[in-house]
Amino acid sequence: MNDQRIKIFDTTLRDGEQAPGCSMTLREKLRLSKALSDLRVDIIEAGFPAASPGDFEAVKAIADENRGPTICGLARCNPEDIEKVHAAVKGADNHRIHVFVATSAIHREHKLKMAKEEIIKTAVGAIRHARELCDDVEFSPEDASRTELAYLAEVVSAAIEAGATTVNIPDTVGYTVPAEFDKLFRYLKKHVARIEEITLSVHCHNDLGMAVANSLAAVAAGARQVECTINGIGERAGNCSLEELVMAVRTRGDFFDLETGIDTTRLYPTSRMVANITGMQIPRNKAIVGENAFAHEAGIHQHGMMQHASTYEIMRPEDIGISKSNLVLGKHSGRHAFRERVSNLGFMLDEFEMNRAFQEFKKLADKKKDMYDGDIEAIILNVDSASSG
Ligand code: KIV
Ligand code: ZN
Repeated sequence: MNDQRIKIFDTTLRDGEQAPGCSMTLREKLRLSKALSDLRVDIIEAGFPAASPGDFEAVKAIADENRGPTICGLARCNPEDIEKVHAAVKGADNHRIHVFVATSAIHREHKLKMAKEEIIKTAVGAIRHARELCDDVEFSPEDASRTELAYLAEVVSAAIEAGATTVNIPDTVGYTVPAEFDKLFRYLKKHVARIEEITLSVHCHNDLGMAVANSLAAVAAGARQVECTINGIGERAGNCSLEELVMAVRTRGDFFDLETGIDTTRLYPTSRMVANITGMQIPRNKAIVGENAFAHEAGIHQHGMMQHASTYEIMRPEDIGISKSNLVLGKHSGRHAFRERVSNLGFMLDEFEMNRAFQEFKKLADKKKDMYDGDIEAIILNVDSASSG
């Protein structure tokens, strides 16, 4: 892979699902995993198999049914967790075991009650065990951003020696700031031997609203994998938002000179799908996928836009999958227009569900002049729950 290419590691199904109110059924997880494959993410973190039998089943089903992305599962540093991940992901052509242990003083003293050396020993043992089962092993020192730099470098060196192929640096509590994270990544690159042999990754939470900025700082300092979630869902204030990160790299290619493999025209449909599945609504002013992201109301802006779109628009709506002619549908709209809008809203319906949805659409359109996206989503969710229940 060329050095300018950033791998996108999607953890919507693991870290995203851990957010209160965001749990998904097996069927929903499978639907979303297919959408993530279509979006062309490089790695799907499908879950935490040791968390529950349901999580194990979901990771296994995703690994068995998806071709393309690497399928990954999360494990604590113990043999049971690691073996469960392996059993769940091994059906995928490409699979990964992701092991983690906390390294910061706060976690060492208050959570793990373990000394520094003991933590290194635990990590090394787990990585070696995972490598016996799988060639692709990721290691994360949890709460890395609050870990002493010299000790973090020691942990990362030991992880590489033990066989980790990706080392991920999490800002677990969303505490760091871009300039500080830049220093951290440059320090690791300077002080860790053989670091160029592995993929350096970044994983940011959004507690201070800086997850995307911190991830971009890490990328500018040499990280080549970014862990993120659709719509930025995740614990507390969430994770780095995939669509924001990807569009920042693309739109500011002049600055970053980097690329991702994402099909950006699938961003909007995938975002709608996650919002519909989790019920976590997208704020109107959310960057990239919010309803207002491409709306121009001020007269001076509208005038500029009429002369040339680039006066006030740095991205084109069609680049993220918002159709140019976002026509309001009504009772005269045909099946073709309806089908296109359904797909644009992130739904994948079989022929039976599509027929049912179209009939319901026609019934409602008879009573209502204009049919908005919200009306169509409500119809599909009804049809979907009727056919699954
Ligand atoms: O936030 C975090 O530290 C994590 C790790 C398990 C990577 O989610
Ligand atoms: Zn996390």
